[in-house]
Parts: sequence; structure tokens; C-alpha cells
Amino acid sequence: MTTSPASIRPAAGKLGILTPGLGAVATTFIAGVESIRRGRSKPIGSLTQMATIRLGKRSDKRAPLIRDFVPLARLEDIVFGAWDPIPDDAYTSAKKAGVLEERDVEPLKDFLSSIKPMPAVFDQHYVTRIHGTNVKQGKTKRDLAEQLRQDIRDFKAKHGCDRLVVVWCGSTEIFIAPSEVHATLAAFEKAMDENHPEIAPSMLYAWAAIMEGVPYNNGAPNLAVDTPALQELAQRKGVPISGKDFKTGQTWMKTVIAPALKARMLGLAGWYSTNILGNRDGEVLDDPASFKTKEASKLSVLHTILQPETYPELYDGFSHVVRINYYPPRGDNKEGWDNIDIVGWMGYPMQIKVNFLCRDSILAAPIVLDLALFSDLASRAGMKGIQEWLSFYYKSPMAAAGLQPEHDLFIQQTKLKNTLRHLMGEEQITHLGLEYYP
Ligand SMILES: NC(=O)c1ccc[n+]([C@@H]2O[C@H](COP(=O)([O-])OP(=O)(O)OC[C@H]3O[C@@H](n4cnc5c(N)ncnc54)[C@H](O)[C@@H]3O)[C@@H](O)[C@H]2O)c1
Repeated sequence: MTTSPASIRPAAGKLGILTPGLGAVATTFIAGVESIRRGRSKPIGSLTQMATIRLGKRSDKRAPLIRDFVPLARLEDIVFGAWDPIPDDAYTSAKKAGVLEERDVEPLKDFLSSIKPMPAVFDQHYVTRIHGTNVKQGKTKRDLAEQLRQDIRDFKAKHGCDRLVVVWCGSTEIFIAPSEVHATLAAFEKAMDENHPEIAPSMLYAWAAIMEGVPYNNGAPNLAVDTPALQELAQRKGVPISGKDFKTGQTWMKTVIAPALKARMLGLAGWYSTNILGNRDGEVLDDPASFKTKEASKLSVLHTILQPETYPELYDGFSHVVRINYYPPRGDNKEGWDNIDIVGWMGYPMQIKVNFLCRDSILAAPIVLDLALFSDLASRAGMKGIQEWLSFYYKSPMAAAGLQPEHDLFIQQTKLKNTLRHLMGEEQITHLGLEYYP
């Protein structure tokens, strides 16, 4: 099916990328983009910078780079801003996070030192392990959110930006279940006025961004923009939103291995995942209330991929355990172990072991870049509300009410690329391929 190209506003002028949170992920992202701009690094891990997209028939041999195919903001046109309750500038924060080696941080010292976080909307009730001093004051949650709106406007004017996007790189907040205060926009705004405890800071950033017409992408498992209230606002204001929780290490592997088991109709008896992690994120997740939010995000994946309702003989009642252990010596260099008990022909058991020594923020940084550039593209193309085609980047993808989210990495990748083809009026690729065998 070919569609006519969408009318897409050109990516002219500067794009401001604002991150609530200037910790390990955000500083690794910013330092990486600057390092690439200076020709010191390559954008490894980023689809917007390195991937190609096949167009037309296989025999046509048309496979341009995605960034030459769709109009994306150029890295040279990006400016960075952030909020954080910890007042460290990006240089100090990057040094403390310890993700990047001195040889990569020192040459960027002037640039990184110039990025200072704006005072955050922060409340320790929602992130117990962070002690912040760079915090806004306000009588009500709406006052605080209005201050964020002002920050957004001021940043845009000060840096002469044509457009802005927000990518949440802040901490994981305590678990909040969706309730009636999140059910409609009217209830949400009333709850902001009444300082309702179920309105978390991440929701205020989301509300403020959408009110300012700025796409909001949610890198943490926080409920944030994943509520009917804020989806209603995004629809009304014509703003793209996406979430939630960057799919980086262990869950990324899960969304590769689980579809492979299902594709071959192999059974699963159990999947035990454990991690050691020593960065600030690990410390925040050491608090059971924050861990609960992360756990819910990590657990949802297998059930949706394996569909035990459809395949009870293979997947009914499998055991799924996820642990994160805070272990300071490892810093950002997480180590994850997966033990997967699978079942084969005639019920014979087998095991798969995965030992992933990853660097969390190194995997997350290119995701931040791609989400920023793609959500800006979506905005210029007039797309609004949940951007399901960006599920590729998330552990807990948002989907329309009543719809199962898509977790399988390769279906997500196909969906992403077909959306780009659709936007540019190119034929969708079904992989049927009968035309090659007349
Ligand atoms: N690194 C990964 O692989 C990965 C994967 C998925 C999700 N995430 C999520 O991304 C987020 C960032 O991870 P990180 O490793 O950079 O953590 P980090 O602790 O290094 O940085 C988070 C920063 O957010 C700040 N913060 C907390 N509440 C805030 C608020 N209300 N407003 C503004 N800033 C606030 C903290 O002070 C901290 O500096 C976490 O929620 C993490 O769970 C990371």
C-alpha cells in the first residue's frame, strides 16, 4: 500500500532538547552528541544516525540512511537544557556518574559546564533517596507546573529555538496506580489545584510540556503521561507523547529471546532475572516503592509476548522473577543474569543462560537522541497523542485503551520503519515477496 506523503514542516532552525533529570543518562547523551559533533565519536546505537531503510522491492536496491530519507533535525542544530534538584552542572554530574572516562569528558569540560540545571519540581515523597536543593517553591502543584511552562518559554526565547522536545531522564518515582484523578483532564487539573498526592512531579512536567505544545517522551516507568487525562490533553493540543521506560539491557534481551521461543513453539517453565547495579539509579531503585514501579514495567513484557491464554500448554503459569540489587562497586556497569527454563519436544527441559555485562547509560543515550528526533518529526508531521511506532524504545509501551501493547522488538522495528515509509508516501513492506517468484 502506498500513501501520499504527509505534509511535514521542515526541520529548520534550532531544536531544544529538555531533560527533567541531569544524571547519568542525560549527561552521557549530551556528552555523546557534542563528541559526535566535534568528530570525536560515532553515533553507535542510534537508528536516526546510522540505520538505513529499505524502500520498494528488494531488487530496487534503494536503502537510504533514515536521516537522508525523513527530515530530521541535524545534530548541529540541537541545544540542551535540563532540570534537576541536584544543582551540579553537566560536567560535574557526568564526573560523578562515572560512566564516561576522563579522556572523553575533559575535552568537553567548557561545553558541559555551561549546562546548568533549572530548579526542579521535586518532592522527596516520590523519590526518597534523592536530597535536592535546586527545587522550585509553589503553593499548589498547578503553580509549580506553571513555573515549568515559564521555564520552557524562557528557554525557547533565550536560545532562539524553533522547536522543543522533552525526554524524561529523571529518577523512577514511587509506584502510583491510575485512579480517578488521572481519569479525565478536568479531574487532573482539579487535583493539581488541591495538591493531591497522586499527582507526581513527572506528571506536572508532562502537563506543562503538552500545554506548551512540546512532545513528551517518558524514559522512566513512572505513570507520568500514561493516563487518560494527559492523553486527552495531548489530543486536544495536537502533541505527540510516548513512553514508558527506556528498553536498554535485560528487557531488550527479553524482547528478542521470548519471541524466538514463541516463534518455534517452545515452552517456558520459568525466567529468573537478577542484576547488580551501583549507580544513583540503582540507589533510587533500592527503595522498595520505586522498585515496585520498575518491577511492574519489567514484568509486563513476557506475558504479552507469549500469550499464555492462546498457548496454555506452552506458557500457562510460567514463573517470572526480576531482581535489582544495589551494589556500589559496579557503578553504571550493570551485570545481569538470566536463567531461562525452556521446554522442548516431548516435554524435555533445557536451559538458556544470559550473562550481560552492559553499560546502562551507554545503551540509553542513543535512545534519548532517537526519541527526541523522532518525536520532533512526529510533531512537524501533525501526529498527536500516543506514538505507538516508538514502542521499539520502551520496556512498557503505551498503547490505545483496550489494545495490547506490542513488545516484540522486531515487530516494533517493522512498525517504526513502516511509519516512516507511510509518512513519506512510500510503499509499506510486508515481506510477502511473491513478486520475485512469478
Ligand atoms: N540507564 C538505563 O539503561 C535506563 C533504562 C531504563 C530507564 N532508565 C531510567 O532513566 C532514568 C534516569 O536514569 P539515570 O541512570 O540517569 O539516573 P540518575 O539517578 O543518574 O539521574 C536521574 C536524575 O534525575 C533527577 N531527578 C529526580 N527527580 C527529579 C525531578 N522531579 N525533576 C528533575 N530531575 C529529577 C535526580 O536528581 C538525578 O540527577 C531513571 O528513571 C531510570 O530508571 C534508565
